[in-house]
Amino acid sequence: MNPKISLQSVTKSFGERSVLNGIDLDVSASEVIAFIGSSGSGKSTLLRCINLLESIDDGAILLDGTDISLPGLDPDPIRRRIGMVFQNFNLFPHMTVLRNITLAPRKVLGLSIADAETRGRELLRRFGLQDRADTYPDQLSGGQQQRVAIARSLAMEPEVMLLDEITSALDPELVGEVLDVVRELKGNGMTMLLATHEMNFAREISDRVCFLHQGQILECAPPEQLFGSPRNERTQQFLQRVIDAGRL
Ligand SMILES: Nc1ncnc2c1ncn2[C@@H]1O[C@H](COP(=O)(O)OP(=O)(O)OP(=O)(O)O)[C@@H](O)[C@H]1O
Ligand SMILES: [Mg+2]
Repeated sequence: MNPKISLQSVTKSFGERSVLNGIDLDVSASEVIAFIGSSGSGKSTLLRCINLLESIDDGAILLDGTDISLPGLDPDPIRRRIGMVFQNFNLFPHMTVLRNITLAPRKVLGLSIADAETRGRELLRRFGLQDRADTYPDQLSGGQQQRVAIARSLAMEPEVMLLDEITSALDPELVGEVLDVVRELKGNGMTMLLATHEMNFAREISDRVCFLHQGQILECAPPEQLFGSPRNERTQQFLQRVIDAGRL
């Protein structure tokens, strides 16, 4: 069976700056991969390339065996299959929670208002936000807003979710409720690729943790191995810095 996502020698530069330097990775269906690494190592760029928000210079990105990185492809049908959630939620401030969630299913999938709202309310209930459907994003806590952002992405019924630092803008006491949602998604078999600075979360949620350094995956292993006995010297140095900072 094809991997759900296959990254093959993915290369990306911004001008003179080479940001991804030959990324190779196969991700199975229902697998959860956490990308860790210093700021600027290329985590967000990699996720953005997979979601076709950035074009790659060389290599290929396959979804179910089909190359989605070919120049000239219409990105919209592919983006429908790959949901992405960002650090800063990016909810539409002038729309209620329910409209935020129903907009894309109505406009892009052509769902009726009733069907989109049924789906939206179901997602809100799933994440404990059923009584927030008619409020506006700025009336919600950060953790609630992020849960709405995840629900909005799931309303398109994606096959893969990309989560870029989804807890980094949150106060520590709000992180847990968002991580609960990610755990729930994992329990339902969602394939997920996430970038995170939360090592404990990466350790708990992921099947494999990949350490990125200067646009290369230096090491990719199950969390107990990567955190417990990292093989690469750079990984060891990075983890030591994290430990020294009291974050692991
Ligand atoms: N649109 C862009 N134009 C030019 N350079 C960019 C652009 N986006 C990212 N970069 C550069 O690419 C490199 C990798 O950035 P990226 O955001 O992928 O890192 P990251 O690992 O996600 O970092 P962080 O942990 O801080 O989120 C950085 O040097 C960054 O300055
Ligand atoms: Mg980033």
